[in-house]
Amino acid sequence: MKVLITGAAGFIGSNFVRYAMKAHADWEVVVVDKLTYAGNLANLEDVAQAPRFRFHRADICDAGAIGRIFSQEKPDAVINFAAETHVDRSIDDPSLFLRTNILGTQTLMDVSRKLGVARYLQISTDEVYGSLGPAGRFSEDSPLQPNSPYAASKTAADLLARAYFKTYGLPTLVTRCSNNYGPYQFPEKLIPFFVTLLHEGKQVPVYGDGMNVRDWIHVDDHSRAVLAVLLHGKPGQVYNVGGGNERTNIEITKLLIAAMGRDASSMKFVPDRPGHDRRYAIDDAKIRAELGVSPQVPFEEGLEATVRWYLDNEAWWRAVLSGDYLTFYERWYANR
Ligand code: NAD
Ligand code: TYD
Repeated sequence: MKVLITGAAGFIGSNFVRYAMKAHADWEVVVVDKLTYAGNLANLEDVAQAPRFRFHRADICDAGAIGRIFSQEKPDAVINFAAETHVDRSIDDPSLFLRTNILGTQTLMDVSRKLGVARYLQISTDEVYGSLGPAGRFSEDSPLQPNSPYAASKTAADLLARAYFKTYGLPTLVTRCSNNYGPYQFPEKLIPFFVTLLHEGKQVPVYGDGMNVRDWIHVDDHSRAVLAVLLHGKPGQVYNVGGGNERTNIEITKLLIAAMGRDASSMKFVPDRPGHDRRYAIDDAKIRAELGVSPQVPFEEGLEATVRWYLDNEAWWRAVLSGDYLTFYERWYANR
């Protein structure tokens, strides 16, 4: 099987490539990534030398480039991880989010349709559901009520996958996962941001009252679910993926402060994010029942291993913070 994976120089995609290449020694993997500020080929360094791995630098909105890559590679399946992903950046400027997340998805599905791709998996998010109060969980049938430009753009892409199944018969699948954590996450997201700040002896900025709840899942548990949906999911269907692990931001912050040997004075409260979703919680009964998938990584173990990874890989995040990784592409090719 040849799988074309977009956005795999980012956090989740790179972890997925590693996971899938280990699980399926016979798979050919073709990565397509624009290498935006969030894309880093260092995230794929350990798998990139394999003869069954190929990389193309391209923008998913560029129909010409995507068409040429698909015609050359003839993938059996496509997984679209590529997106602009940081909520705060989407509040600052929504335009790139709408372009990449919506038009990029459309381009990929148009080309997939023309080439008769057998499975197209759209990586969506639980943020399409909006925000919960203290009770209840999101099921696949919950109303879609996105609150940030990021979430709205992901919702549009998610619904386009549905429309391409209904209208054109493209065999689309959609996963809606909760907040991921693990190695190689760009240090603007809560956990790596706070670990790197605490390492520097700086204070960590908690938005609002810090009582917002996220359902955290280890990235390997997300990869396990994506693989199962790709192989065994039913086209036209949506699958929720969750960690079963709700935590307030204050709880996460306290765990990180303890893990880094700091004290409560390292935490400061800052003005809230506009439109800040209060609580996400996932009902994953469908994927458990239909595909036998459930999270396996206990949160405390996963978080400890993740903090250790950032401490052991200081060179990785220092290069990211300095912007040095942006020249990795040129150096990568010069050495091949
Ligand atoms: P990330 O920001 O770390 O990586 C995104 C990748 O997409 C980068 O490699 C970037 O270079 C690439 N990219 C961006 N624009 C592109 C374009 N126009 N063409 C080609 N490549 C482009 O993101 P992530 O956290 O790994 O998220 C991956 C996917 O999973 C996204 O679709 C996101 O919405 C979804 N998701 C993320 C989470 C989470 O907790 N991080 C949870 C649920 C769903
Ligand atoms: P984030 O990692 O940006 O993911 P998302 O907004 O997609 O859930 O943020 C996770 C939570 O942490 C969210 O409730 C916002 C909060 N947060 C802070 O309190 N301070 C920060 O500096 C960041 C980046 C996030």
